[in-house]
Parts: sequence; C-alpha cells; structure tokens
Amino acid sequence: MKVLVTGGLGFIGSHTVVELQNKGFEVVIIDDCSNSDESVLDGIEAITGKKPAFEKLDLKEKHKVEDFFQRYQDVTGVIHFAASKAVGESVEKPLLYYENNIGTLVYILKELCKKNKASFIFSSSCTVYGQADKMPITEDAPVKAAESPYGNTKQMGEEIIADTCKVIPNLNAIALRYFNPMGAHPSGEIGELPKGVPQNLVPFITQTGIGLREELSVFGDDYPTPDGTCIRDYIYVVDLAKAHVVALERLLNGKNESNYEVFNVGTGKGSSVLEAIKSFEKVSGRKLNYKVVGRRPGDVTTAYADTTKANKVLGWKAEYSLDEAMNYAWIWEQKIRD
Ligand code: UD1
Repeated sequence: MKVLVTGGLGFIGSHTVVELQNKGFEVVIIDDCSNSDESVLDGIEAITGKKPAFEKLDLKEKHKVEDFFQRYQDVTGVIHFAASKAVGESVEKPLLYYENNIGTLVYILKELCKKNKASFIFSSSCTVYGQADKMPITEDAPVKAAESPYGNTKQMGEEIIADTCKVIPNLNAIALRYFNPMGAHPSGEIGELPKGVPQNLVPFITQTGIGLREELSVFGDDYPTPDGTCIRDYIYVVDLAKAHVVALERLLNGKNESNYEVFNVGTGKGSSVLEAIKSFEKVSGRKLNYKVVGRRPGDVTTAYADTTKANKVLGWKAEYSLDEAMNYAWIWEQKIRD
C-alpha cells in the first residue's frame, strides 16, 4: 500500500512518515521545501532504515499534481499536511493562504475522485472552535467564525472535503483537529525546524533556553485562568503522528461509520503558559528568561480537547506527558545548535 504524504518533510509530516514506515507502509513524499529541508529525508532514514520516495513539487501547479497521480497510479491513500500555518502572515497575505491551503486541497481531491477507492486524511486544527463555550471541547462544539485567513482555510478545507464526500462515495476522509503539537523524535534525528523567529510557544521557549533569543514574551497574565496565562492542550508530535496512522488504517479497513469523520487529537489536559515554562525549567535544569507582556490579538483563553471520541472510536490515546515532550524538544534544540 503506497501512501502519499504531502508536506512530509515538515514537523508533523516527517514524524508521520516515520510511523507509517514503521508499520510497513510504502511512502512517497511531496514537499516544496518552502518551510522544510531535504535533509529531513536522512533523519527519516536514520530512524527507519528506509529513505522514502521524494518528489520536490509545488502542489499549486495543477498539471504537476495531475502528472504525479498519473505516474503513481498505486497511490490511493493521502495524508495532506502541506499548508501554510502562520496566523499573522495569513492576515497580511490572505490570497497566499487561500491559494496554498485551498487550491492545493482541491487539486488533490480532484485526482482522488477519479479512483475506485481513496482514503484521505486532512490536517485540521482546534482553531475551528475559536473560544469554545465549554471545556473540554468535543467534536460537536460549534465551529466559530475564523479569526484569521489561516483559520478560515481549515474551516473551508473541512467543508470542501465534507461536500465532496457527500457526492463521491468512493472517497473516504478523516479530518484530524490538532491541538498544540510539540516535541521531537526520541532519536533526536527529526524535530521542528522553524524558519526565522518562531511564533509558537515551545520552539520559542527552547530557543530562549539555548540563548538564541534573549527572552520569551508571555502574552498576557490577566486571563481568567488559575495563573492568568492562556491554557492549551500540548500534544506530543509522535502521539499525533500515530493518530494519523490509526486514522488511515480505519479507512483502509473500512471501519469508518461514514465517509467523512472528524476527530480531536489532543491529550485532554490543559496546561498554562507558565506551566509550560516550569516544565522546560524542570527538564532542562535551566532558568528561563521571560517577561509578561500584553495579550496577543486573536489568542483564545483556553482550549483543550475532549478526547473520548478518538479514544473510543479510533482506539488512540496520547501516551506522553508535557514533561516528556518538552524533554525531547529540548534534546532536539541542543542537537541542532551543536
Ligand atoms: C496557533 C493557532 C492555531 C494554529 C497554530 C499553528 C490561534 C488561536 N491558534 O495556536 O490555530 O494551528 O498556532 O501554528 O491562532 N505564547 C506566548 N509567547 C510566545 C508564543 C506563544 O506567551 O512567544 C502563548 C500564546 O499566547 C498561547 C500559547 O503560548 O497562549 C500557545 O501559543 P502558540 O504556540 O502560538 O499556539 P496557539 O496560538 O494556541
């Protein structure tokens, strides 16, 4: 069984390729390397003993997508990570986000619709819930108006897939709504490689810890939470990668209850920004230089998952704690700065 992983050189994509290969799947990666590096292939090979097939290709070029599926007729499973993901940038460059995240999704789905049977896993996000009214967040919590073009592409992406599945019974799809992915592979061979100044908390923490950044700005401590800082559900990237394999297997084995399903992928536990900092200090033995500043526009106060559906229906559960994930993030940071 050959699986196409778009964005397979990226953070979550590369960890998923490892888990797929560990399970015996044959993988072909498409990546344009706009936010990743070809050397990730060596990391994957070091862990699994196998270098996956790789096509450097921009999915915005429709004829190249068509040509790919012509050449790889045996690809009937796709895990689609390739997308832009910087919330702030999406506000500045909305059309770039709609073209990158929506245009490419449509091209891939068009190809899958031609097949007798196809399985599709989509990278969605808890951002679709906005500030949910109830915690923990279940999958049937209402989708709120998107705060950014990035968030909108995740909502629209889900709708495009759902609409397509309604009329194409041969297409089976699962959208995974990720909470906050973090960490790196235990081997130290692959991890997060943010280009420029990281926007996400954990890479900013580890880069500050290693001295690459002077101090971490904590965006607000006046939220209505126990310590005043925002609460998120930090999920270890290897746990998240495994959720993709389980979801794909569900489709391949025909275990899905409908041809479009949605699952939350989180730990079910919320941690505050200050708790994440404490976790870093504990695993690294270093004090982190940080300062509380004003709130970041668009941040929700609290978001953590109800994972009951993923646990029961997918048979998947996060296994790693925040400290374990932070430890691997820290090992990785030290390795890449060596
Ligand atoms: C954001 C998006 C999410 C997207 C993800 C991808 C929103 C509401 N969520 O997640 O949809 O999938 O990025 O990158 O836009 N923080 C600091 N200092 C920092 C960085 C972060 O205090 O330097 C705080 C934030 O205020 C937040 C928490 O850390 O409370 C996590 O932030 P981040 O890692 O950026 O993730 P989200 O904003 O949850």
